Amino acid sequence: MGLTEGESRDRIGPVKLSGPMTEGETAHAWSRPAREAPVMTDRSPLRDLSAPSFVTRHIGPSAADRVRMLAAVGHESMAGLVAAAVPEAIRARTPLDLPEAVSEAGALAELRTLAGRNRVLTSMIGLGYHDTITPGVILRNVLENPGWYTAYTPYQPEISQGRLEALLNFQTMVADLAGLDVAGASLLDEATAAAEAMTLARRAGRSKSAVFVVDVDALPQTKAVLATRAQPLGITLVESDLTGDLPECFGVLVQYPGASGRAAGFAALADRAHAAGALVVAAADLLALTLLAAPGEQGADIAVGSTQRFGVPLGFGGPHAAYMAVRQGLQRQMPGRLVGVSVDADGRPAYRLALQTREQHIRREKATSNICTAQVLLAVIASMYAVYHGPEGLRRIAQRVHRHAAVLAAGLRERGVTIVHEEFFDTVLARVPDRVPGRAGEVVAAAEAAGINLRHVDADHVAIACDEKTTTGHLRAVWRAFGGDPLDDTLGGPLDDIDRVTPDALPAGLLRTSAYLTHPVFHAHRSETAMLRYLRRLQDKDIALDRSMIPLGSCTMKLNATTEMEPITWPEFADIHPFAPIGQAAGYVELIETLEAWLAEVTGYDKVSVQPNAGSQGEFAGLLAIRGYHQARGEAGRDVCLIPASAHGTNAASAVMAGMRVVVVACDGDGNVDIGDLAAKIGKHRDALAAIMVTYPSTHGVYEETIVEICERVHEAGGQVYVDGANLNALVGLAKLGEFGADVSHLNLHKTFCIPHGGGGPGVGPVAVKAHLAPHLPGHVSAAPYGSAGILPISWAYIRMMGGEGLRQATEQAILSANYLARRLAAHYPVLYTGRDGLVAHECIIDLRQITKETGVTVDDVAKRLIDYGFHAPTMSFPVAGTLMIEPTESEDLAELDRFADAMIAIREEIARVASGEYDKTDNPLRNAPHTADCLTADEWPHPYPRSVAAYPMPGLREGKYWPPVRRIDQAHGDRNLVCSCPPLDAYQAADD
Ligand SMILES: Cc1ncc(COP(=O)(O)O)c(C=O)c1O
Repeated sequence: MGLTEGESRDRIGPVKLSGPMTEGETAHAWSRPAREAPVMTDRSPLRDLSAPSFVTRHIGPSAADRVRMLAAVGHESMAGLVAAAVPEAIRARTPLDLPEAVSEAGALAELRTLAGRNRVLTSMIGLGYHDTITPGVILRNVLENPGWYTAYTPYQPEISQGRLEALLNFQTMVADLAGLDVAGASLLDEATAAAEAMTLARRAGRSKSAVFVVDVDALPQTKAVLATRAQPLGITLVESDLTGDLPECFGVLVQYPGASGRAAGFAALADRAHAAGALVVAAADLLALTLLAAPGEQGADIAVGSTQRFGVPLGFGGPHAAYMAVRQGLQRQMPGRLVGVSVDADGRPAYRLALQTREQHIRREKATSNICTAQVLLAVIASMYAVYHGPEGLRRIAQRVHRHAAVLAAGLRERGVTIVHEEFFDTVLARVPDRVPGRAGEVVAAAEAAGINLRHVDADHVAIACDEKTTTGHLRAVWRAFGGDPLDDTLGGPLDDIDRVTPDALPAGLLRTSAYLTHPVFHAHRSETAMLRYLRRLQDKDIALDRSMIPLGSCTMKLNATTEMEPITWPEFADIHPFAPIGQAAGYVELIETLEAWLAEVTGYDKVSVQPNAGSQGEFAGLLAIRGYHQARGEAGRDVCLIPASAHGTNAASAVMAGMRVVVVACDGDGNVDIGDLAAKIGKHRDALAAIMVTYPSTHGVYEETIVEICERVHEAGGQVYVDGANLNALVGLAKLGEFGADVSHLNLHKTFCIPHGGGGPGVGPVAVKAHLAPHLPGHVSAAPYGSAGILPISWAYIRMMGGEGLRQATEQAILSANYLARRLAAHYPVLYTGRDGLVAHECIIDLRQITKETGVTVDDVAKRLIDYGFHAPTMSFPVAGTLMIEPTESEDLAELDRFADAMIAIREEIARVASGEYDKTDNPLRNAPHTADCLTADEWPHPYPRSVAAYPMPGLREGKYWPPVRRIDQAHGDRNLVCSCPPLDAYQAADD
């Protein structure tokens, strides 16, 4: 059972030091109440020797470090610091009721047991999810490699050239295969990408109609998500087989090939749609596009789809990278991130995210979409799959898939089975023999008994999808499931004979003739050695957590422990289809239900759903629940969402998607919600008030004292309280959102609960609600029933290895580390906002605006100079322009925190030299940062400061220096000259001349 508040405080009082501590002692100091000294022996009790040690691996500073850090922030104990920092009104009265922590080995053993409850069958279900082979070199060197998976979104392009190149490859691959001009750098899943395409078509099209026509043969999960997205925006969906006249509409979605397997062109449809002023969206299978005419060639304006079958495991539904490509003219309307090419200070080509990437923060409620975190790691895998296989390899895989499907269909015909569509790519729709109607279930059951999942379409139809892993053995097993002599494998002749006489089943007029993947990158890395080195070369260009701390405020770049990552590639988790019979996923269901219950306990909410696959999607789901609640009470007119000026851009964008009107509430001089303005806005919109959406602790990194009052005022006016849980790392174990007045939140498992950022995704954004909102949660905000289920073992393992006590300690350490850094930096930079006793929460903002005014040195200069010191910059200019927001997290040890503080202080001294005139105002190490090895070793060194100052501003750097591959990148040039696919090699050559 849990401890009382008093007991828990005792545990984290100051630790008495006598000589260096051993690991065991350190663990003891955190996790066990003080015991009486053992009698007769100085040995530790076996119980203590066996105590799980993960907490001390996850939390960076040792007990001795904590003593020093507490002293630096002027507190004697952790309990004292927490009591001073966290308002009493929000403090949880009881400790977290979670199972005791287990060791890393213990957690893995339990996960093995859960995995063992999943049954991995061969998947021939299709529906947009297909089994695939992740090449070992990509599996080990990307998916299982912290150099890739612990990287952050490439907002600092100079330290992100590796992943930016991989994403540019992704964009080039997608644009080529789709036959369109520009592709983005990944979306969340095919269904949400289709929904984004629908709203893009509405924004960009000429038609004033509110109707969007959807192919009757679209994937069912796409239809479901489209319905969720359409309703609050007043869009009417009309299903059609697309053969006859189109109703008046602003857009049409065609599935290519259809969910039933049918492969047919749509050029005539596109002509009709365009004539009526509507845009055409093709939801297309990328592998099929290696053999079939591209969507762009048939008149599609937008193509969307999944890149899952390019080497990304099924994972019970995700994470997988969706794609979107558009024709010229629509690129500035595209949601999500777009990588572009620009030049650096030396005029060399360099990659960076195009301007619109951060458009939510700039345009907020006018943003084109709420997507922030996307699926970068998975996009990297898919792009590398194309790099490794090249166009011929992909075509060969596609041909093999298609030939299996064609031979499968021929064998079935021989057994009297009717094949519904003559033309298909990978999916065969079979009508079970007419003489025995209603037998589809029996066929599916027989196949399952043979270890294969087929799709039970209806009583008389079964669909069978072939994929990269399909073998002739599978075909035989499927034939047997349809009946006939179970021992006769060669019914109709040997399989080779069937193959020889069976023609392709691709539509003759629709064969692909255009080239794709012609860029040299898709031809140069065919051997494993070459591929290995390419991956290594790109990885070496980047800073990820495997090099140094990434102090990004609001992003919580904490440890992503190896043990947490291990299970995600086990076949029992990786190889399950999202629509496999649920009984085959019993282990997954148990894991998910347990995780949801733990998250409910941590947050104080009644129900949690892990379906949303990013924070933005959790926001949307939570706001829809609020709308549904008001509607059910006959108050459908409540549609105003109050959002403080400091909010993250996704908040406003999500509110608009949920059909709400955004009203901004001002912040006061301390960065808190201005209660006077809040009262005024509530007064003005009382009858229409739907909700307030606040972040807690605030995006200013402070525990606002007034949060309880804010909740009460909004409730009193009939509104609901949405608390953005992105900053939950400052609350876990200390306060529960659901207990201090909030009705709904999303959490970011890719922040607080250790899912790695993957260079900009994947993420999981569970939505958590009080009981009264639970019935109103939407069923379909993501394509898969459990969203990105494949990475949930990470958060499960984290909670299991930390226990309630360890989670609370992590929060406390996060607060201590932020305050420690704030104290160390305060003498050099103003700390913008603080709460009681001058304390911050888990992050702090340092203000450079006055320094910039006085010296001309900008946040950008500091951020780029940090690269010379080997660090990723803190969050720049969010939530306040001209500032840096620093979040150290609990996982960084004291030595690393000090190294970072030393770097910031050394940079401040460099700024002072600019101010004093010792450094030139424009030609100084800050303005010229970062410095590449290339510029430092050039024969010419035109700058007035020594090369050694540029390269080695701190002595420790000589032992291990990160060399940025490019100098500072010209963002404006890139936006003026938007190039979003791989430039030809001579572009690099020209820069060298
Ligand atoms: C405060 C806040 N809210 C919402 C989000 C959106 O989360 P996601 O990027 O997972 O969509 C973020 C992401 O950085 C955030 O910091």
